[in-house]
Amino acid sequence: MEGSWTMVATAILFLSFLLVLFRFFGSSRRKCSGGRANETSLPLGAQGWPLVGETLEFISCAYTDQPETFMDKRRRMYGKVFKSHIFGSPTIVSTDEEVSRSILQGDSNTFVPSYPKSLTILMGESSILLINGYLQRRIHGLIGSFLKSPNLKAQITREMQKFVQESMESWDEDRLIYIQDETKKIAFQVLVKALISLDPGEEMEFLRKQFQEFIAGLMSLPINLPGTRLYKSLQAKKKMVKLVQKIIEAKKKDESCKVPKDVAELLLSENVADEIISDNMIDLMIPGEDSVPVLITLAIKYLSDCPAALQQLSEENMKLKNRKDQTGEELIWSDYLSLPFTQTVITETLRLGNIINGVMRKAMKDVQIKGGYVIPKGWCVFTYFRSVHLDENLYDSPHKFNPWRWQDRDTSGCSFTPFGGGQRLCPGLDLARLEASIFIHHFVTQFKWTAEDDSIVNFPTVRMKNKMPVRVKRRSSQQAFSLESKLNSEGSCKQ
Ligand code: HEM
Repeated sequence: MEGSWTMVATAILFLSFLLVLFRFFGSSRRKCSGGRANETSLPLGAQGWPLVGETLEFISCAYTDQPETFMDKRRRMYGKVFKSHIFGSPTIVSTDEEVSRSILQGDSNTFVPSYPKSLTILMGESSILLINGYLQRRIHGLIGSFLKSPNLKAQITREMQKFVQESMESWDEDRLIYIQDETKKIAFQVLVKALISLDPGEEMEFLRKQFQEFIAGLMSLPINLPGTRLYKSLQAKKKMVKLVQKIIEAKKKDESCKVPKDVAELLLSENVADEIISDNMIDLMIPGEDSVPVLITLAIKYLSDCPAALQQLSEENMKLKNRKDQTGEELIWSDYLSLPFTQTVITETLRLGNIINGVMRKAMKDVQIKGGYVIPKGWCVFTYFRSVHLDENLYDSPHKFNPWRWQDRDTSGCSFTPFGGGQRLCPGLDLARLEASIFIHHFVTQFKWTAEDDSIVNFPTVRMKNKMPVRVKRRSSQQAFSLESKLNSEGSCKQ
């Protein structure tokens, strides 16, 4: 009797779980409707279970340290492009670099972004991640040219140096330093300054707290009732929008705002509507709290596991520091970006770390792809960068951290797309590299460290499980630069 109750309870639990998953991923907004498809023109693949399709297997792989095993298994059976049913929608998965490139290059008549419902609710309709056509191109162009300007790079460099220095001055040798937390705080402040010119202080702390509430709901169940995760995140967003709107109002009244000194002022000067500005200011904070700090943290993780790379990178940065100390010149943004080995370390971190493992689109019409296959109108497409970045036909020993592989290889091909591509290519890619280079420079030239045990988590976002704790030892200013490690072979990195 007890056994049958357990079975009934288990069955009910399983069914509820399937329903919740279906509700979660199968949003009406995002839902790729799976228009009638001519089976012969579809890529091979399986649709899995009713309702949930292959989502459970996808998620169970995503939680492991090799999430790409879901894709690998299907690549072997069906080829690099296959059909599946994940996140509540029939989906074509592309792990083929050329097919992914053509999808990314498609305009809004062909493909539009497609995200889980919780994310679209939280981002708001005017978010750059969701808008299409002329408005997306206009906002993208304005933000992109501002973020790439030498003036902004100079400002970011000054701010980043200041915040890095303030943070590092407080590091004690007898306590653990959590690199992920430190870099989140620094990168968030730098980005908020560039977006709305807010300085550290009470309002910044308020914004940071609300932002953490907001971001926690991006991948939550799409149920907006008091007490739910989504509800709390929406409340936090409302408070942030109020603060940002107050700042925008003040900017409008300030007659001295002639040359835009932040992104909000730039958009105001181009007569972009207030709601579009405030929604986007908040969305643009995401890389400050998430992608950039994770990039820096992963670089420190990989360097900690690879003494040969750490030695070469430290020598390169120490040389720059000594040169600047001797001439008394300040470090400027181009100094950081012109360190060749440091840039290969960042490139390799982007390849191996896969901070954004892929992007999702919805087909607006039937689209023919390589091999004569068709992506039917209404279907979702998942361009999965991670499988390309870890493809052994494209990269030797792909799971090994090997920055030297970039010494005679460029980053412009379609087999390297950590920042996406086409019309939605990340406009913050130079900033991300610059911020990472600045942190790494000051870290390796001021400290030696030992990393405590930690591991990378890949789902729902990439991060370090224990926030990357390290014990640091300050280098004295007179200390001649020498690393104990005499390792100089490429083969000395942990796998
Ligand atoms: C390591 C750091 C970063 C990574 C890995 C990254 C990655 C990406 C990727 C893959 C996309 C394409 C999304 C798509 O095609 O749907 C993207 C878009 C975008 N990124 Fe970044 N990003 C980073 C840093 C930044 C920074 C620092 C900013 C600037 C504030 C930024 C702003 C944006 C914006 C505004 C878009 C949307 C572009 C559009 O849809 O027109 N990102 N990013």
